[in-house]
Amino acid sequence: MFLELRQLDIQYPGSDTPAVRGVNLGLRAGDIGVLIGPSGCGKTTLLRAVAGLEPVSKGKILLSDRVVSAAGQTEPAETRRIGMVFQDYALFPHMDVGRNVGFGLAHLSKTERQKRVAEVLELVGLAGADRRYPHELSGGQQQRVALARALAPKPDLLLLDEPFSNLDIDLRERLAHEVRNILKAANATALLVTHDQLEAFAIGDVIGVMNEGQLHQWDDAYNLYHRPATRFVADFIGHGVFTPATLREVEGRIMVSTPVGELTDVAECPLPCAFEGGQCDVLLRADDIVHDDDAPVKAEIIRKAFRGSEFLYTLRLASGYLLMAHVPSHHDHKLGEWIGIRAEVDHVVTFNRACPVNNRSLCQMPCAQAGGNACGVGLQDASSVVKLEKTAE
Ligand SMILES: Nc1ncnc2c1ncn2[C@@H]1O[C@H](COP(=O)(O)OP(=O)(O)OP(=O)(O)O)[C@@H](O)[C@H]1O
Ligand SMILES: [Mg+2]
Repeated sequence: MFLELRQLDIQYPGSDTPAVRGVNLGLRAGDIGVLIGPSGCGKTTLLRAVAGLEPVSKGKILLSDRVVSAAGQTEPAETRRIGMVFQDYALFPHMDVGRNVGFGLAHLSKTERQKRVAEVLELVGLAGADRRYPHELSGGQQQRVALARALAPKPDLLLLDEPFSNLDIDLRERLAHEVRNILKAANATALLVTHDQLEAFAIGDVIGVMNEGQLHQWDDAYNLYHRPATRFVADFIGHGVFTPATLREVEGRIMVSTPVGELTDVAECPLPCAFEGGQCDVLLRADDIVHDDDAPVKAEIIRKAFRGSEFLYTLRLASGYLLMAHVPSHHDHKLGEWIGIRAEVDHVVTFNRACPVNNRSLCQMPCAQAGGNACGVGLQDASSVVKLEKTAE
């Protein structure tokens, strides 16, 4: 691993609890890692510790197998060969683009410096812009200059903290793809922080979901969505609800009884004995619920949100349980209408109903099959349904 965090705690002086707790992660050379999570969960703190700007209280940070941070030991930021891009991208307003980008290249001769500046400006799509001043550039162009400035000294690792948050949404999306291409072309290893899931998915090879200082899952986008390790991740990524379910074995097949009907032949399903009485919670994503006029199960539309090609409907079954469904937007039903639905679930994500810890390995029963029994943070059914319902707004 190029960057490794082992059991990392970071606690600010005067604070009762660490801002970052027990974080483990590894980033390979050339990979782009992204951290997402709600405000105050510790993303910037973690990034600053990697940069050497914040001391760690427990655990270690390693760069290329060399310990650069441990309790009582912080290698200074200057010797870590790390480039940083922050939210406000802080270009020097009185310097033209060429001097901004060449700022960290004082050790090079003038000719070498000019060559490197031209190279990185070309890389970020701003060839020939070196005589322009920051105020003559758009927000997106300024952001690319900031990226060029960080890349110019060829840092071993690039850290980016919400680099697009000042930009409007269209530009953000375009720039996110561009930045991924630029980082890959520069063969850079990078760790980026964002609030925005789509941005994380567009840029990251590996994505970490943080909450309250803890890293809940460090994984690729597919696994975060399809195999969330905790209820928090299931809740934070995508739309869905947790519903109570009972697992039973019938003639060698596992049946999953849910409020929307029986699910059979679902992949990654734990054995019923993984849960007391086979009782657990199942994650039903909005794309697991299919609108079908002929289906015997009906649900009332209680909320709908237009998403372009589809609606995100929040539905209530006669039993009172809530579900979400993505429905093509030409099916424009009214609020209060009852529509037919069925579940189309190819693999099942189960959570222990009342597990006090959020580490799934700690609460897997011995007979649970690997990967199928994610244990959540112990939310009660009703509150978790309400919580997830809110994410649809
Ligand atoms: N210098 C500091 N001194 C004391 N506490 C701090 C300091 N900086 C941050 N904190 C606290 O540490 C926690 C994590 O803050 P941090 O800035 O890392 O969050 P974040 O995930 O980057 O949030 P945001 O998405 O809002 O930028 C918060 O509770 C914050 O109040
Ligand atoms: Mg932050």
